[in-house]
Amino acid sequence: MARWLGRDVVSILDFTRDELLDLFEAASGLEGVLESGRARRLLEGKIVSLAFFEPSTRTRLSFEAAAKRLGAETIGFTAAEATSIAKGENLADTVRMLDGYSDLIVIRHRYEGAALYAAEIAEKPVINAGDGRQHHPTQAMLDLYTVNRLYGTVDGLVYGVLGDLRYGRAATSFLLALTRFKPKMVYLISPPLLRPREEVYMALRQQGLPFQETESLEEVLPELDVLYVTRIQRERFPDLRDYEKVRGSYRVTLDLLQRHAKPELKVLHPLPRVDEIDYRVDGSPYQAYFLQARLGVPVRAALLAKILGAW
Ligand code: NCD
Repeated sequence: MARWLGRDVVSILDFTRDELLDLFEAASGLEGVLESGRARRLLEGKIVSLAFFEPSTRTRLSFEAAAKRLGAETIGFTAAEATSIAKGENLADTVRMLDGYSDLIVIRHRYEGAALYAAEIAEKPVINAGDGRQHHPTQAMLDLYTVNRLYGTVDGLVYGVLGDLRYGRAATSFLLALTRFKPKMVYLISPPLLRPREEVYMALRQQGLPFQETESLEEVLPELDVLYVTRIQRERFPDLRDYEKVRGSYRVTLDLLQRHAKPELKVLHPLPRVDEIDYRVDGSPYQAYFLQARLGVPVRAALLAKILGAW
């Protein structure tokens, strides 16, 4: 699969269905061997840069764990304050340095297009770990891998995507990723202020995704196989008064699920959660978000191994 070697990962739309399935196969193959230490030769001698200009827990740590399980070393930073960016260094110069120090760059930045820009500057492959409200392709990969793991398929299911579809890059990338498969129906569930941006609608329509919009979770809940919940992205609102209007506007409780959902419904969430899923859901059979977070390691390991030519 020569197409993987040296490849940049900017948007989930850069990938075909077959490529995503190929990635899932690799992730599944790695799942069993990562923890045993048997994959530690795969990226021996490689260095992966983790350039996180924005806060992160899962994405950074799962990339780091994935790289280390494959025997690679990691360098990087988790707060731009600790680097020369605090002295006024620009993004391009920082990327050039990392390009010279490592074999692959994982970047998260609050500016839309930052990863694409980095990919144009760097000779080494660049993976987008989130650029502003725009894309979060590796999150979408692990989200669909989780669905595939739970249902044995991504096709034919009814999905509900709940919450901040306007500023949430995880929700956006999840929706774009679904266009590569054949969902039966996708419900976009959000208050009007949090509906997707026009360019996202355009992409969904252009790709032929079967979707419907609603404000009511209750109404569609009985039909859902997968409920993808997201946090309201307070930090990305241009006007905090709008945030105040939608704050706390939805909440998934155990009671709501028990009353309306199918017993086999699975609840996903890219995390971090604030108050949109009640803690009582955690111990229920609906909860799949902790498994989802864990699967970030094999999926990101598969991606690193493929791009660096080790799988
Ligand atoms: C998401 C993100 O950073 O976009 N988190 C993640 O990577 N798991 C979602 C969020 O911050 O709400």
